[in-house]
Amino acid sequence: MSSSACQWISPRSIFCSSLLVLCFLSIFLIYYNPDFNYANVGSYLERGRQFCPTMLCTEKAQTQDSDQNSPTELHPHPSDTQENQTIAVDAEPDTILLIWMWPFGYRFDLSCNIFNITRCRLTDDKTLYHKAHGVFFHHRDINYNLVNMPKEPRPSFQKWVWSNMESPANAGQIPKLNDLFNLTCTYRLDSNIPVPYGYQMPLTSKEESFKLPAKDKLVCWIVSNLNANHERVKFYNELKKYIKIHAYGKGFGQRISDEDYSKIVSSCKFYLSFENSIYKDYITEKLYKPMMKGSVPIVLGPSRPSYENHIRADSFIHVNDFSSPKELADRLLYLDQNNSEYMRYFTWTSKFKVRTIHFGKEHACKTCSYLQKHREYQAVHDLNKWYWG
Ligand SMILES: *[C@@H]1O[C@H](CO)[C@@H](O)[C@H](O)[C@H]1NC(C)=O
Ligand SMILES: *[C@@H]1O[C@H](CO)[C@@H](O)[C@H](O)[C@H]1NC(C)=O
Ligand SMILES: *[C@@H]1O[C@H](CO)[C@@H](O)[C@H](O)[C@H]1NC(C)=O
Ligand SMILES: *[C@@H]1O[C@H](CO)[C@@H](O)[C@H](O)[C@H]1NC(C)=O
Repeated sequence: MSSSACQWISPRSIFCSSLLVLCFLSIFLIYYNPDFNYANVGSYLERGRQFCPTMLCTEKAQTQDSDQNSPTELHPHPSDTQENQTIAVDAEPDTILLIWMWPFGYRFDLSCNIFNITRCRLTDDKTLYHKAHGVFFHHRDINYNLVNMPKEPRPSFQKWVWSNMESPANAGQIPKLNDLFNLTCTYRLDSNIPVPYGYQMPLTSKEESFKLPAKDKLVCWIVSNLNANHERVKFYNELKKYIKIHAYGKGFGQRISDEDYSKIVSSCKFYLSFENSIYKDYITEKLYKPMMKGSVPIVLGPSRPSYENHIRADSFIHVNDFSSPKELADRLLYLDQNNSEYMRYFTWTSKFKVRTIHFGKEHACKTCSYLQKHREYQAVHDLNKWYWG
């Protein structure tokens, strides 16, 4: 971790050399002046991590933090006072994340307060390019020929972030993206900054407990794209032979407003949370929104264990739990008759609630927070293999 810190960035080399010189000076001073206050060294040590200008030397300071044998290297001015250091810490710049393109053109406000993320400055001001610690790109808005990407050379400390919330089937590959980015921010849990579409999170004590909405339908589905090649459409076509499915949405020739969505979904015992394509961790709001509305999701997407990485095992029905659509239909018809059995799918609601993410904003804020904690060299080499491979 340590030695590379001084090798790959030239300003760093200069900085490291200065540190070395100062180190010799300090050691000299220690021995030259027998009254040197060792307590001060301790306080420098504590402040050392924060004292350095943010991007330039945090890594160096952290490395040295653990190297207690050469504490004086940490501080170039052993005569400075604590007050002085406070001034220096406050002058340390916030982490800047430059939003190069608004995801799908959708703008969001630039404050990260709702996530309790501080000292982050999100901006879309491209004149800050040379200062930005990170630059945030959204895959679907990147031009195939990269004509809308930065033209200026990348500052050595700057990280480029590739974000994408679409499945590989819904996002075209761009070969030139290999060896271009430093970080990934997607729904996939093996991203540098994973941002799933939603969360099941613990209830706080003051939150109201769950109340099951009144039900007058058994199974519902709202869908806009009825592409016959989609796995979900094939499954639907089989399932509907054995059980009545209340189907809505553009796919069935009617648009559904947000208000209608809530009314419909909450009045159904089960909802078909069928993803449009099946990929690792690709679990969207189609799962989380019905759960928020009090419907039990029947999921079609990645495997059950993959879902269980996101939500509790007892809070959903997976189509793979059954050997055929008919068997699933039989189970649903049984649950329709046995309310205590049906209610077991809501056990989680006594301890958890579901929330969906703030699209774009949550990605950007979490990226900024990540940048604060990771100063080290990072690179995404074969993005295409990782994502589409
Ligand atoms: C640090 O403190 C010294 C004296 O205490 C003062 O002369 C100097 O200007 C201060 N430096 C800064 C950066 O405030
Ligand atoms: C943010 O911090 C406050 C105070 O520490 C806390 O009450 C709140 O729950 C936190 N919010 C989040 C989203 O973590
Ligand atoms: C309903 O399910 C419960 C288990 O949750 C079971 O004990 C009970 O016998 C079932 N009732 C009927 C009518 O099948
Ligand atoms: C970011 O990635 C590029 C391309 O792989 C690389 O040249 C650069 O050194 C990386 N920068 C950081 C700060 O990791």
